Order: sequence, then C-alpha cells, then structure tokens
Amino acid sequence: MRPLATGGLALLLFFGLSPGTAGAAPAGADKTVPSCSDCHDQAKAFVSNAHARGKTSQGEVPNKVCTPCHGDGTLHIDAGGDREKIMKPVGRCGAETCLDCHDQTKGCKSGHSSKHANSEAVNCLTCHSIHSSELKAPNLLARKQLDLCGSCHASQAALFRNKPYGHRIGRGGMECSTCHEPHQSTNAGCEITRQTRTGEIVCVSCHAEKKGPFVFPHGAGSVGNCMTCHEPHASNNAHRLKRATVYQLCMECHSPITGGTLGSQPPSFHNLLTARYQNCTTCHTAIHGSNRSPQLVR
Ligand code: HEC
Ligand code: HEC
Ligand code: HEC
Ligand code: HEC
Ligand code: HEC
Ligand code: HEC
Ligand code: HEC
Ligand code: HEC
Ligand code: HEC
Ligand code: HEC
Repeated sequence: MRPLATGGLALLLFFGLSPGTAGAAPAGADKTVPSCSDCHDQAKAFVSNAHARGKTSQGEVPNKVCTPCHGDGTLHIDAGGDREKIMKPVGRCGAETCLDCHDQTKGCKSGHSSKHANSEAVNCLTCHSIHSSELKAPNLLARKQLDLCGSCHASQAALFRNKPYGHRIGRGGMECSTCHEPHQSTNAGCEITRQTRTGEIVCVSCHAEKKGPFVFPHGAGSVGNCMTCHEPHASNNAHRLKRATVYQLCMECHSPITGGTLGSQPPSFHNLLTARYQNCTTCHTAIHGSNRSPQLVR
C-alpha cells in the first residue's frame, strides 16, 4: 500500500468508490493513487534532498515527505492540482514553516533575534531554496555565497573581488560563513563573527601561531585584536594591512614625534629617515609576539 492513506482514500472517493473498499483496494489500484511525484518533477529530484533522508525507499518519494512544508495535499489532489488548494511557503510567513523544525535558538544562533531573522526582506527563503538550490553550494543555498551575500552586502563582496590582497572566497576553502554565522543572534555577548570554542576571535582558528600565548606579547593586550592592524576581508596593502606601509602602521603608535601616544618610542639608533629602518619588520620579525625577545626581534 502506498503511503498517504488519506490521499488514496480521497481519490477513491473522487472516483465514486465506497470508502469501505479503500483498506482492501486490489493491488492494481495502487498505481492509480496519485502521489505528488505523479505530477511534480520536484518529487523525483527530492531523493537527494536532506529533507527526504530516511523517508524514501527504492527511489520513491512518498507524499509524507512533502506535507511538513506544503500541508496535507488531499484537497489539491482531489481538485486535479488546483494551486489555490495547496500551501506554498513563500516570504516571511512561509519561512515560519522552517522554524517548526529548525528553531535553532541556542548559544549565539537564533532564528528570531538575528539580523537575518525572518522579515519580508530577509528570511530563510531568501538564502535557502528547497527545490532549486545552487548545486555547487552546500546547505541548500540559493546561490554561491559571494553572490548571495553580495546581493545585499555589495561593498564587502566587492572587496574580495577587486582587492589584490584578500582571503579567497568560493574557491573550495573559505566562505563568508567561515567567519560569519549567518543565523548569528544579536543578543549581548554575540559578536559579529563566529568565535572559537574557547571564545576567541575566529582568525585564530586558522592562524593559531599568531595568538600565543607569548612570553612577550606585542603590547601586552593593549593593542586590541587582529583588526587593529589587518583588514579581515581584503585590502590594497600587502598582508592585508590597514596602512599602505608597515612604517605608517607602526608609527601610529610608536611615533617619536607625538611621543608615547600608545607604544614606546623607537630608540635613538633607529634612523627613521632611512629605508633600512623604515622596514620595521625586517628586524622586528616576531611582530605578533615572542617567547625570547621583549623587543620582538626574534
Ligand atoms: C522543507 C520544505 C519543503 C519540502 C519538504 C517540500 N517543499 Fe516544495 N516548496 C517549498 C518552498 C519553500 C517552495 C516555494 C518556492 C521556493 O522557495 O523555491 C516550494 C515550492 C514547491 C512547488 C512550486 C514550484 C515553484 O517553483 O513555485 C512545488 C510544485 C513543490 N514545492 C512540490 C513539492 C513536492 C512534490 C514535495 C515533496 C516531494 C515538496 N515540494 C517538498 C518547500 C518544501
Ligand atoms: C494530479 C496532479 C497533481 C498532483 C497529484 C499534485 N499536484 Fe501539485 N499541482 C498540480 C498542478 C496542475 C498545479 C498547478 C501548476 C501551475 O498552475 O503552474 C500544481 C501546483 C502545486 C503547487 C504550487 C502552488 C502555487 O501556489 O504555485 C505546489 C506547492 C504543489 N502543487 C504541491 C503539491 C504536493 C505537495 C502534492 C502532493 C501532496 C501535489 N502537489 C500533488 C498538479 C498536481
Ligand atoms: C519537518 C521538519 C522540517 C521542516 C519543516 C524543514 N526542515 Fe530543513 N531539515 C530537516 C531535517 C530532518 C534535515 C536534515 C538534518 C540532517 O540530516 O542533519 C533538514 C536539513 C536542512 C538543511 C541542511 C541541508 C543540507 O544539505 O545539509 C537546510 C539548509 C534546511 N533544512 C533548511 C530548511 C528550510 C529553509 C526550511 C523551510 C522552507 C526547512 N528546512 C523546513 C527538517 C525540516
Ligand atoms: C542571510 C542568509 C541566510 C538566511 C536568512 C538563513 N540562512 Fe540558513 N544558512 C545560510 C548559510 C550561508 C548556511 C551555511 C552555513 C555554514 O557554512 O556553516 C546556512 C545553513 C543552514 C542550515 C544547515 C546548517 C546549520 O547551521 O544547521 C540550516 C538548517 C539552515 N541554514 C536553516 C535556516 C533557517 C530555518 C532559516 C530561517 C530562520 C535560515 N537558515 C536563514 C544562510 C542563511
Ligand atoms: C536579502 C539581503 C541580505 C542577504 C542576502 C544577506 N544579508 Fe547580511 N544583513 C542584511 C541586513 C538587512 C542586515 C542588518 C543590517 C544592519 O543592521 O546594518 C545584515 C547584517 C549582516 C551582518 C552584520 C553587520 C553589522 O554591521 O552588524 C553580517 C556580518 C552579515 N549580514 C553577513 C552576511 C552574510 C555572510 C551573508 C551571506 C551568507 C549575508 N549577510 C546575506 C541583509 C542581507
Ligand atoms: C576571514 C574572516 C571573514 C570572512 C571570510 C568574511 N568576513 Fe565579514 N567581517 C569579518 C570581521 C572580523 C568583521 C568585523 C570587522 C571589524 O571589526 O572591523 C567583518 C565585518 C563584516 C560586515 C560588517 C560591516 C563591515 O564591513 O565591517 C559585513 C556586512 C560583512 N563582514 C560581510 C561579509 C561578507 C558578505 C562576506 C563574504 C563575501 C564576509 N563578510 C567574509 C570577517 C570575515
Ligand atoms: C579558514 C581559515 C582562515 C581564517 C578563519 C582566517 N584566515 Fe587569514 N588566511 C588563511 C589562508 C589560507 C591564508 C593564505 C591564503 C590567502 O592569502 O588567502 C590567509 C592569509 C591571511 C593574511 C595574509 C598573509 C600574507 O602573507 O599576506 C592575513 C593578514 C590574514 N590571513 C589575517 C586573518 C585575519 C585577521 C582573520 C580573522 C578576521 C583571518 N585571517 C581568518 C586562512 C584563514
Ligand atoms: C600590531 C599590529 C598587528 C596585529 C595586532 C596583528 N598583526 Fe598580523 N601582521 C602585522 C604586520 C605588520 C605583518 C606583516 C609582517 C611582515 O612585514 O613580514 C603581519 C602579518 C600577518 C600575517 C602574514 C605573515 C605571517 O607571518 O604569516 C598573518 C597571517 C597575520 N599577520 C595574522 C594576524 C592575526 C590572525 C592577528 C590576530 C591574532 C594579527 N595578525 C594581529 C601586524 C599585526
Ligand atoms: C595600535 C598600536 C600599535 C601599533 C600599530 C604597533 N604597536 Fe608596537 N606596541 C604597542 C604597545 C602599546 C606596546 C607596548 C609598549 C610599552 O610597553 O611601552 C608595543 C610594543 C612594541 C615593541 C616592544 C618594545 C616595547 O617597548 O615593549 C616593539 C619592538 C614594537 N611594539 C614594535 C612595533 C612595530 C615594528 C610595529 C609595526 C609593525 C608596531 N609595534 C605597531 C602598540 C602598537
Ligand atoms: C635594523 C633593525 C631594526 C629596524 C629596521 C627597526 N628596529 Fe626597532 N629595534 C631594533 C633592535 C635591535 C632593538 C632592541 C634594542 C635594545 O636591545 O635595546 C629595537 C627596539 C625597538 C623598540 C623598543 C624600545 C624599547 O624601549 O625597548 C621599539 C619600540 C622599536 N624598536 C620600534 C621600531 C619601529 C617602529 C621600527 C620601524 C620604524 C623599527 N623599530 C625598526 C632593531 C630594529
């Protein structure tokens, strides 16, 4: 017997059979019981959809796979496919259906308090497509992330596309969602980026050697985080630095002219007029911190 007994029952009624025969329908009658897949290609393609996992057998997609999102399709089928008689989850209201099963309000993830929480402009269905997702993008995304996120955050996406020094997005490794949790809650304590399991900035999940702990950390915590000196996305400057040259960057805090603004002054043997001394990191190689040299020279 095919699943979705109600659908079968309704059809038998439709063809004027007595309901009493439904339970004992002859084997041949099974084929005439319409399933969503009889009329909709969506169903055939659904075998590989995460939403059909464990619910299909031998390539058949039973109607019960469709009903959580489309509701019971009996009336629709009875009417030979009347589109007024089936639910199509679109827009903010449609996206509420998704939360029936994916109410991921836990830690810094939320379907309710996120900047991307369901609104008419941004909702689950802006980013996800159940039936026509981008094949090369996992998680049923409607488009690849650089295009998807870039459709609203054009300036950030443009940085990755146009700047010479940037993290590589969409080439098999990093995506926007590597650093940003798209369902990130706006609750207090939840940052704009993901954090490591121990609550550290996302960067150190890949650049662990930059975080220490060091015996002589640069600035002993008063320098701020990676973004004091680096652009997270992309930059015109080598090493994604915030300033065109290393010299300019260092002098913002170590200028002998403004005098002890934040960092110490370079000792007087530094002839800052010469190119040799302007390339600070040729000597101060351990710029992120050192275990051996308080002057960060090794
Ligand atoms: C996880 C939720 C979900 C499941 C399960 C689901 N659908 Fe859909 N379906 C949607 C959404 C959302 C839309 C609205 C169009 C869109 O956003 O792509 C839709 C649209 C449709 C459409 C209209 C086509 C269109 O492009 O507007 C058909 C037909 C359809 N689904 C059939 C099915 C069938 C058949 C099944 C079962 C095999 C099924 N759906 C399972 C969510 C689902
Ligand atoms: C007898 C054929 C038939 C069966 C069986 C059938 N449908 Fe349809 N369905 C149609 C037709 C025809 C349309 C209208 C298509 C159009 O107008 O473009 C339609 C439209 C839809 C739509 C789009 C509604 C909209 O507002 O655009 C959805 C969603 C849908 N069907 C889901 C289902 C689901 C889920 C099932 C199984 C429970 C199902 N259908 C079973 C024929 C069928
Ligand atoms: C009936 C419950 C249910 C509903 C309703 C539902 N989902 Fe799912 N969804 C699931 C299950 C179960 C999985 C598979 C989880 C797994 O395998 O770990 C899943 C997986 C996913 C995935 C991951 C896909 C992948 O390839 O790994 C996305 C994205 C998703 N759902 C989005 C949606 C969206 C968007 C909606 C609303 C249109 C929705 N879901 C509605 C139950 C549901
Ligand atoms: C701004 C775009 C965007 C919106 C809006 C969005 N998602 Fe996602 N979703 C993503 C991206 C990107 C991923 C992949 C995340 C990753 O790489 O870890 C994802 C992954 C998922 C997953 C699978 C992995 C996981 O985190 O569990 C589910 C389920 C999911 N989304 C459901 C939803 C639901 C439900 C909604 C609506 C409340 C929603 N999403 C709204 C972009 C979005
Ligand atoms: C449909 C439009 C839309 C799409 C697509 C979209 N976003 Fe957003 N995003 C928004 C809106 C609106 C806000 C809230 C803006 C604000 O508060 O400044 C936001 C906020 C953000 C923020 C927080 C910004 C801040 O200043 O606090 C980040 C980070 C972000 N989005 C990343 C992403 C990523 C990553 C993706 C792709 C997975 C994505 N967005 C896709 C519309 C979108
Ligand atoms: C390598 C990690 C990383 C990647 C990849 C990344 N971001 Fe960001 N993003 C950040 C950090 C860190 C900030 C916070 C910047 C700050 O504090 O100055 C940020 C800030 C933002 C903001 C807030 C406004 C701003 O520019 O400061 C938006 C919007 C945003 N990112 C969108 C995106 C989009 C869209 C993508 C993919 C095209 C993306 N991000 C990829 C790390 C990343
Ligand atoms: C998923 C791993 C990953 C994360 C997370 C990550 N990076 Fe990277 N980063 C890389 C890889 C791989 C490269 C080298 C390839 C390239 O240039 O894209 C790189 C390159 C860099 C470079 C330039 C190296 C050079 O010699 O020019 C800087 C600076 C940098 N990352 C800083 C950051 C900052 C700051 C963050 C956090 C906002 C961050 N990274 C997050 C993987 C990551
Ligand atoms: C005080 C400024 C400053 C801070 C803070 C800083 N960096 Fe750097 N970083 C630099 C400079 C300057 C360079 C270039 C070194 C050179 O010229 O050889 C650099 C180079 C890099 C490089 C590429 C070269 C290499 O050694 O691999 C990566 C990756 C990097 N930084 C990641 C990070 C991460 C991750 C953080 C946060 C944990 C961080 N940086 C914090 C100044 C800083
Ligand atoms: C955001 C400000 C800031 C930037 C930018 C910065 N530093 Fe520092 N740096 C500090 C602070 C604060 C200390 C600790 C100063 C102190 O203890 O007096 C420090 C310490 C040092 C020390 C260790 C010697 C000491 O006095 O403890 C050296 C060497 C150094 N910085 C070199 C550099 C170089 C080279 C650059 C450029 C690549 C740079 N700094 C960029 C703030 C900065
Ligand atoms: C030719 C190598 C060299 C270059 C280039 C260089 N330094 Fe140094 N710097 C040193 C050495 C060696 C020391 C340690 C001196 C000592 O042991 O007292 C030092 C010490 C320092 C100190 C620590 C002062 C203190 O009070 O302990 C600062 C700050 C500093 N340098 C900043 C800079 C800045 C900023 C630049 C780039 C404009 C720079 N250095 C370029 C070799 C260099």
